[in-house]
Amino acid sequence: MVDTTVDLCGITLDNPVIPASGTFGYGYEFAQLYDINILGTFSFKGTTKEPRFGNPTPRIAECTAGMINSVGLQNPGVEKVIAEELPRLKSCFSKKVMANVGGFSVDEYVYTAQRLDECDCVGWLEINISCPNVHGGGMSFGTSPSAAAQVTEAVKKRVRKPVIIKLSPNVTDIAAIAEACEAAGADGISLINTLLGMRIDLRTRKPVIANRKGGFSGEAIFPIALRMVNDAASRVKIPVIGIGGVASAENVIEMMLAGATAVEVGAANLVDPFACRDIINALPTVMQKYRIQSLKEIIGECVNG
Ligand code: FUM
Repeated sequence: MVDTTVDLCGITLDNPVIPASGTFGYGYEFAQLYDINILGTFSFKGTTKEPRFGNPTPRIAECTAGMINSVGLQNPGVEKVIAEELPRLKSCFSKKVMANVGGFSVDEYVYTAQRLDECDCVGWLEINISCPNVHGGGMSFGTSPSAAAQVTEAVKKRVRKPVIIKLSPNVTDIAAIAEACEAAGADGISLINTLLGMRIDLRTRKPVIANRKGGFSGEAIFPIALRMVNDAASRVKIPVIGIGGVASAENVIEMMLAGATAVEVGAANLVDPFACRDIINALPTVMQKYRIQSLKEIIGECVNG
């Protein structure tokens, strides 16, 4: 029997497969389709202090082997998430969940993180400093080492649960941002969020997305994500969660060889809602094929230095 368990910041996951924020709602929707307790955990929709209606439509553009989204952090706000979404989640998910936190100022990140830190069912706080679809927050904190460190330090001072900072690929040196977060006290990092992209409709000669640009994700970005995970994992000691274009058990293993302790699956859930279930079911067979006895043992085998 192979061992698929991994340790993520002190909590054991049955397997490293984690549906990514924004592709799995607050879990309940997917629990209608299969038993979501088979997941390592999942990261719920980016949650902000105030409710957000999101960006104007159209928000989605199809691309070859991927898609562009510009949702704009639509969510009901942290109080409603705590009062309604988390109790509903508890009825179908018995594991710790990862809370994804969005914000428009350091104070907002701290407030929302503190509120979610108080919830028993939350195991980790994933601080999203990389949303490309909002102005005055999100990615603006994730593109400068000092701003990333400022958010990390402020949140870390006020919470008890592990803090994982979600990084943007829209930078020159993602490893430098990862190092800044580690130095500021982050317990882990997750990367990559989406790459800024754009499509133009030839008939209207206007951008497909109402907001003009959005975040590109899907299988097409896997090699870029893998390279960035490897760059970051080569420079930090804290756990790294690999995200970007993951669609198979083979991709999960590749991410772990590159340095990931766990792996988030994003756009694949939108193509096939059973994607994570199928990846988890396939993992033992693929591990046997490549003579992997324990996933823990392969983490970072291809990390440099
Ligand atoms: O627009 C969005 O809600 C996306 C968020 C993200 O990519 O972090």
